[in-house]
Amino acid sequence: IKEKQENLRSPICCIMGHVDTGKTKLLDCIRGTNVQEGEAGGITQQIGATYFPAENIRERTKELKADAKIKVPGLLVIDTPGHESFTNLRSRGSNLCDLAILVVDIMHGLEPQTIESLNLLRMRNTEFIVALNKVDRLYGWKTSKNAPIRKAMKQQSIDVINEFNTRLTSVITQFKEQGLNTELYYKNREMGETFSIVPTSAISGEGIPDLLLLLVQWAQKTMVETLTYADKLQCTVLEVKVIEGHGTTIDVVLVNGALHEGDQIVVCGSKGPIVTTIRSLLTPHPLKELRVEGKYLHHIEVKAAQCIKITAQGLEHAVAGTSLHVIGPDEDVEEAKKTAMED
Ligand code: GTP
Ligand code: MG
Ligand code: NA
Repeated sequence: IKEKQENLRSPICCIMGHVDTGKTKLLDCIRGTNVQEGEAGGITQQIGATYFPAENIRERTKELKADAKIKVPGLLVIDTPGHESFTNLRSRGSNLCDLAILVVDIMHGLEPQTIESLNLLRMRNTEFIVALNKVDRLYGWKTSKNAPIRKAMKQQSIDVINEFNTRLTSVITQFKEQGLNTELYYKNREMGETFSIVPTSAISGEGIPDLLLLLVQWAQKTMVETLTYADKLQCTVLEVKVIEGHGTTIDVVLVNGALHEGDQIVVCGSKGPIVTTIRSLLTPHPLKELRVEGKYLHHIEVKAAQCIKITAQGLEHAVAGTSLHVIGPDEDVEEAKKTAMED
């Protein structure tokens, strides 16, 4: 019997956590970019999105397992702000992701927005991996750039290992107080019930291979049904933005289905439903952040999962966080408008 051809879309992974735990920096480390240093006050104030193609993930994880089978086309990562005033953006991110990375600063342990993020994820039963970040700040840490974490740990003195273990134990205890079992990922024998912790450094890259591989493997192992590509459109407006030369544009995350240039769409507007036609479908280059203005790739069609900038007329009053609908050839425009405003 011929095995059913798998048609998986990219998993959507949200990165969440308290302010300044290193969410954006971790993404910078994987992308080879410097988005974080360009942020006002070093604070993320918008939702971001980056597409990581499978070939990059394969490259970054090859030291761990040369034959790691990556079946998904890539990984779409949503960056969220950790500052307390952006609860709505964290909620928007957690609402559309398949899985998440919860970032904890090893020097600080659990903080208020760690717990808030944790609760948002639990509310939707979203699986997540804990990135215990900033391990390079342990006193005496010896850098092994971009190394798998177990290899990096072997380089450390007994004092560093002791400090690491003390802080790790304290974080595990703090999670326990929140009713959650956690364990270092390579000691975790019951993933699903016990959440995995991956120690990382966003500055020197230790643990990044582990984090990427774990995310992809976990998604492929447990989420095949969710990740099987479906034609039915599922698309959320992330941000509404004026871009020079394009007017008001919307940044969307396409979770399922496809969008085409020329599609008639309807989105929720603060002054009523907006019916318009997609003028252009733009994506940033792979490994580039959508929220950073740059060169875009033009597409006639984009299939899920992707982050897309849509240009069209009349988007001025579009409302972020709502769904985008495509009006099919046999569909009634008035019905579609009603559906759009139900968000
Ligand atoms: P918000 O988006 O504003 O919530 O912050 P964030 O979680 O994205 O953190 P960000 O990437 O802005 O990093 C905050 C600060 O911590 C920056 O100064 C980073 O350089 C620093 N930082 C992040 N990760 C690491 C790390 O692994 N090691 C060290 N030493 N510093 C880090
Ligand atoms: Mg950030
Ligand atoms: Na920050």
